[in-house]
Formats: sequence, structure tokens, C-alpha cells
Amino acid sequence: MEPCTFILFGATGDLAKRKIYPALFNLFARGLLPEHFSVVGLGRREWTAEVYQAAVERSIYQFSRTKPDDAEALNRFLQAFAYRVLDIGREEDYRGLLAQVESHENALGLPQNRMFYLSVGPEYFETIADHIRGSGLGRVNGWKRLVIEKPFGHDLPSARTLNRKLAESFAEEEIYRIDHYLGKPVVQRLESLQQANPVIQALWTNRYIANVQITASETVGVEERAGYYDHVGALRDMVQNHLLQLLMMTAIRLPYDGGGAEQVRFQKKKAMEALEPLHLDNAALHVVRGQYAEGTIGGLPVAGYTSEPGIPAASANETFIAARLRIDNNDWRGIPFYIRTGKRMKKKSTRIVVEFKAPLKQGRHEGEGGALPNLLVIEIGPEESISLRLNTKEPGAPDAFKPIRVDLHLTPPDSPEAYENLIGDALRGDAAFFAHWDEVERSWQWVQPVLDAFASDRVPLRRYEAGTYGPAESDALLAADGFRWWFDDDEPATSHSKSTEGDRYANHAHP
Ligand SMILES: NC(=O)c1ccc[n+]([C@@H]2O[C@H](COP(=O)([O-])OP(=O)(O)OC[C@H]3O[C@@H](n4cnc5c(N)ncnc54)[C@H](OP(=O)(O)O)[C@@H]3O)[C@@H](O)[C@H]2O)c1
Repeated sequence: MEPCTFILFGATGDLAKRKIYPALFNLFARGLLPEHFSVVGLGRREWTAEVYQAAVERSIYQFSRTKPDDAEALNRFLQAFAYRVLDIGREEDYRGLLAQVESHENALGLPQNRMFYLSVGPEYFETIADHIRGSGLGRVNGWKRLVIEKPFGHDLPSARTLNRKLAESFAEEEIYRIDHYLGKPVVQRLESLQQANPVIQALWTNRYIANVQITASETVGVEERAGYYDHVGALRDMVQNHLLQLLMMTAIRLPYDGGGAEQVRFQKKKAMEALEPLHLDNAALHVVRGQYAEGTIGGLPVAGYTSEPGIPAASANETFIAARLRIDNNDWRGIPFYIRTGKRMKKKSTRIVVEFKAPLKQGRHEGEGGALPNLLVIEIGPEESISLRLNTKEPGAPDAFKPIRVDLHLTPPDSPEAYENLIGDALRGDAAFFAHWDEVERSWQWVQPVLDAFASDRVPLRRYEAGTYGPAESDALLAADGFRWWFDDDEPATSHSKSTEGDRYANHAHP
């Protein structure tokens, strides 16, 4: 891998501590960092290199999935970290940074490969990009890359403005927009699941699929993010980025050879182009907007959203969204994609469920003992797995179908984390699992009319009890099409287990 200087804005912050340093350490431990690799950490705090290296070391012991077992190697890793005081708004600080980076590159005869990682608030993205250009930091004889965190804009116009500003300093192929859902090992395997399995690829169309359900539910409330969250809401915080990215990853069809980053991005863009837009007048038909009221989580009473510290009593901010989306192309025409996300829900779970059509549904097996639809379930969190629900019959019960679960893939517990995958990809220049501007812009285009419909109160705000699966209207959204949400607490035991949980599945009563 090519030598590189990793220039980290926000080096003293929370994200760097919890995710970035552990990711870099694990890449180092796996031999996946370049031989000549150095980090320049930036912040306003007056830290020395020693204080910084000690902070990096602490973060590794506290947050890394693997712990150091070789003191000499750990020391070599830490020696790569330098620290520099920099105020984002002060131009002269960038010139000092350039002198430091150049002197290091020249001393070792390294090419000017520079990765700028912006682990700071989004209000700083434009200023930093401007100063990188203005100071000369961005004039390189190697490559330069800009890695940025979410959120990318607050709405469609602000996202476009931000993109225009960044484009003055970085070309699109130099910008790596992080969506950490795309770094999860199981999401990265969605691509190969189709590619390497003609059986799955053949089934991946509206001919065999009845609907797709994408859920990201949380049990937590707003926690200490009240001030931020009340201005953002579930639509911006979760749907515009993570859920629409999962929808794209599910909807794409790749050629047998995969085609690499270009093909993944091209297919995602095509899926988004075919996404049927909503408008002010029909948003309420396809979108359910909810807010949690008081309830019980884990047996303990919890407050409603508007009684949370820092949330105005009259807030109409949404903490829950369910929506029906349609992709108008040959693969998906007629197939609803349902997405759902919320806070203070019954379970913490991120999953994609692909429900297959049920040819037996009209036959003699319908009703008691009847077969349930086949489901492909992709668990993204907290556990990661891919499994298939099939129907079988047990000896002695010739009339009754019993659902079984076949595990296709379980992610080993010590798998790389999302940030490790993504930072490794960015260092190699592989942008497949980063959000391209075309995707971001089209996501905002779908979201914007819904935001407008919320602002003009055309989508009623439904209260739901904390500790449930959201408002009843979310169930009604699917019921109107003859479907139901598939939950993760009503699933059969795996095919390897002797449990009889499957019976519970067959007798499931909709909560
Ligand atoms: N934390 C997470 O888990 C998480 C997850 C996803 C996305 N993000 C995103 O990641 C970014 C960083 O989040 P965070 O949680 O790490 O924030 P944070 O803990 O508040 O850290 C902010 C960092 O920015 C630096 N900073 C702030 N103003 C500065 C200025 N004027 N000049 C120079 N440095 C400045 C701070 O350094 P000094 O205090 O030393 O100046 C600090 O290192 C945000 O965009 C956030 O939305 C965070």
C-alpha cells in the first residue's frame, strides 16, 4: 500500500477516541497500514505529542476489539502519531500544518499522499476544505482524499450548497462520505451473497419477492443529544442516510464479476433514480410519523419525548418513521419496500427482511398449519447474521408445516468493525462502500417533500407508547397491502437447534 499521511481534524474528540484510533490499531495489527504511515492529530487543546500518544493508547485499551499483546509493536504504532494545535478558522494554522507535513514527507522521501479526515461538526466542513485549498495543503504530487462524517446537509438545498463548496477543493472521486452502516461486514457481504449465489440472484426480482422490510429500531431515547435531535428528527437522522443506503444495497443487481466500486455506485444511483417521489399531497398515504409517549422499557418506566430534559413540551419532532417506497424499474416494479426506524422501541435491532411470494397461499394449505412465507433475514445489529426461513414438515405431523431457520452466514465475533473496514477501504482508494454525491442528492430529493409535508402538518403525528413497535398506523401501512412486519422475537429456532420455538412462530399473534 502506498505511504500516506493521515491528517485528523477532531483528534481530541469522542469519535476519534471510540472509533478511529481502535480502527487504525486493528488495521496496523493485521498488517493493513502502509509501511510509511503517519498521523497528524489536530485540535485546539494544547497537547504535546506524548499526551496525544497516551490518549491514543488509552483509547485502544478501552475500545479496540483486539488488545495489544506486543509492547514493541504498540510503541511503533504510537510513534506514528504527532499532534498539532490548530484552530479550524485560523488560516495561518494550516500553513504551519503544511510545513510540518512537507518536512516529514521530504525527510523520508515520501510521495505527497494525504488523507484529510474530518471528525468534527458539519458546520466546519466548508471552512476546512477552503483552507486546505488556500494553504496549499491540497496541492499534492500524489493523491489527496477527504473523509467526512454525517450529516451531509440539513435538507436538499443545504446539502447542495455544501457539495458545491467541497467541490471547489476536492473532486468527487476524492470525497469519501462515511455512512457507517455501509462498513458493517454483513452489509458488505450483501454484494457477494448475490454475486456468488445464482440461486439468490435468480430470486432477486419482483417475480419471487413479495416485499422488503428494513428496520432500525432503538430502545434508547434522545439521551444527551436532546438539543441536536429535536432539530433533526428520525427522517434526517436515520432515513436520509442509513435506511436509504440499506434500501439501495438491497435493490442493486450486480453483474457476475461484481464490477467494483463504479458498478456498485452506478447501480445504487440507478435504483435511486427509479425511486418514486412523494409529494406534499400523498406523503400521508405512504409515511407514518410518530413520537414516543411514556411507557416501559426493560420493565422500567420511561418518560415521553416531550418530557425529556431539553425537549420543548410542544415539540412535534418525529422519533419514529415508517414508510412505503416503490422502485419503478423492471426488477422491483410492484414490490413495496417498507422502512421503519424509531427510538424507545421494544427492541434494539437493525435488519432487512426479504419476504418471498407464497405460491401455496391460495392452495389447500392455507390457514391452520399452513406454510408461512419464506424469508431471507439479514441481521445487521446488534448481532450479524444472514438466514433463510423455510417450511418443513415433521414426522408424525403430516398436515402441519413447521418453519425452520437455516443459517447461511454468521459473522464471527472478532470480525472487523465498520470503521476498520471503511478506513482501510479509504486508504486503499476503494470507494465502493462510501456514499457518492449522486446517492446523497437523490436521498435528499426523496426526503425533502416529506420534510415539507411534516412542516405543513400534512402528515399527522402519532403518539406511540415507549417499549412498543411504534404506532398502530405503522402496522396498518403494511396491512393495507396484505402484509405484516416480521419481528425478530417471533422467529423459529435455527436449523441446528432442537428447540421447538417454531411452533410459536406458526401461532404468532400480531402484537
Ligand atoms: N461520536 C460519535 O459516535 C459520532 C458518530 C457518528 C458521527 N459523528 C460525527 O463526527 C463528528 C465528530 O463528533 P465527536 O463526537 O467526536 O465530537 P466531539 O467529541 O465534540 O469532538 C469535536 C472535535 O472537534 C474539535 N474542534 C471543535 N471545534 C474546533 C475548532 N474551532 N478548531 C479545531 N478543532 C475543533 C475538538 O477539538 P478541541 O476541543 O481540542 O478543539 C474535538 O476534537 C461530528 O460531525 C459528528 O456528527 C460522531
